[in-house]
Amino acid sequence: MPALPEPDPYSLIQTEAAAKAIREAMDRAGGALDFASYVHEALYAPGLGYYTGSARKLGSEGDFVTAPEISDLFGHCIARQIAPVIEATGGNVLEFGPGRGTLAVTVLERLESLGALPDEYQLLEVSPDLAERQRALLDKRLPHLVDRVRWLDGLPDAFTGVMLGNEVLDAIPFDRFVKRAGQARQLYVTYDDSGFALQEREASDAIVSAVNAIEATIGEPLPEGYVSELCLAAKAWTADLVQRLDHGLLLLFDYGADRRSYFASERSDGWLRCHFRHHAHNDALLYSGIQDITTWIDFTAIAEAAVDAGGEVGGYVTQSHFLMGAGLDEELAALADAPLEKQMETAAGIRTLTLPGEMGEHIKAAGFLKGDVTVPPALSLMDRTHVL
Ligand SMILES: C[S@@+](CC[C@H](N)C(=O)[O-])C[C@H]1O[C@@H](n2cnc3c(N)ncnc32)[C@H](O)[C@@H]1O
Repeated sequence: MPALPEPDPYSLIQTEAAAKAIREAMDRAGGALDFASYVHEALYAPGLGYYTGSARKLGSEGDFVTAPEISDLFGHCIARQIAPVIEATGGNVLEFGPGRGTLAVTVLERLESLGALPDEYQLLEVSPDLAERQRALLDKRLPHLVDRVRWLDGLPDAFTGVMLGNEVLDAIPFDRFVKRAGQARQLYVTYDDSGFALQEREASDAIVSAVNAIEATIGEPLPEGYVSELCLAAKAWTADLVQRLDHGLLLLFDYGADRRSYFASERSDGWLRCHFRHHAHNDALLYSGIQDITTWIDFTAIAEAAVDAGGEVGGYVTQSHFLMGAGLDEELAALADAPLEKQMETAAGIRTLTLPGEMGEHIKAAGFLKGDVTVPPALSLMDRTHVL
């Protein structure tokens, strides 16, 4: 693994406090936490987790950069696609995990120019630190629209309109398993004097049946020693959203793949990724509470959850195709009179968002529909639903 930057003294104090809380949670659980519970503590322990504490997280001075932070055109393209759904359903927008609030700002500004503002743009954020930053950004960039913005404490019982999430699925705690002597074993995290360590234990029924379902799909057992991730909580979250969606669209963007690609035999160490100061690596037991821990998503599992919950798959496309189908070229043409510097900055951003072999292909957009809703055209350009 390439050398990672040293945390600054304040971050070292933060990670020691987070690690202590995790060790205490392990003690309470009898000495170890299953991997998903470990990730949950590392990311979301109240006041100490990566998202719930004061780590810098997103942006150039943080640990990673997301699509809305790269170019405003990302949010503008999404707005063009969801405007007809807002108009047809008469509903609101509900954004999950809004990060710094940039997607909300850019979607709202384009919806306004399209004359398609919803009555409410609702935000559901589990991180108090990020919710504060979102409020500050919205106050600064769209003071005349903040009356329409509302932060929710939890999921609404029923919702009509557009539910939206960028890189939320990959921030939901996930399990890990390893194949040993033909059986799936579950990975746990424990600790000793030298720090956190992985432990293999008998797998829960949920893990065993998920691995059986994967092997049935790919038509052969996964190889000996194969390690990968299971996004069971992300699946349950998706099902919950689709159940609560009465009429409208659930639109999710994330790093992910269809099940056959996800569990390809050569991908024998899974898709876990950690981010610390713009360095990507796969040691989730390091820097607890001050580094991001994510995994790619098995979009077949997400689509199954949505369909089982009564939704319909509206489309599954790469981010690059979504943006092209959403009128990226028109958005760019509208900048023809902008200062050259702005045009060059936008062109560089678009390259990053659409680059093959990187964000453009690795990130997928998946849309799930409920009720009578027309599929947004961007979900039809090179639709890959058939591979799910
Ligand atoms: C990788 S960040 C993405 C932030 C933002 N969407 C962006 O694109 O810049 C993941 C976000 O998802 C949030 N999150 C995780 N689980 C969530 C859940 N169940 N409901 C709502 N937000 C959640 C985290 O708190 C965090 O703000």
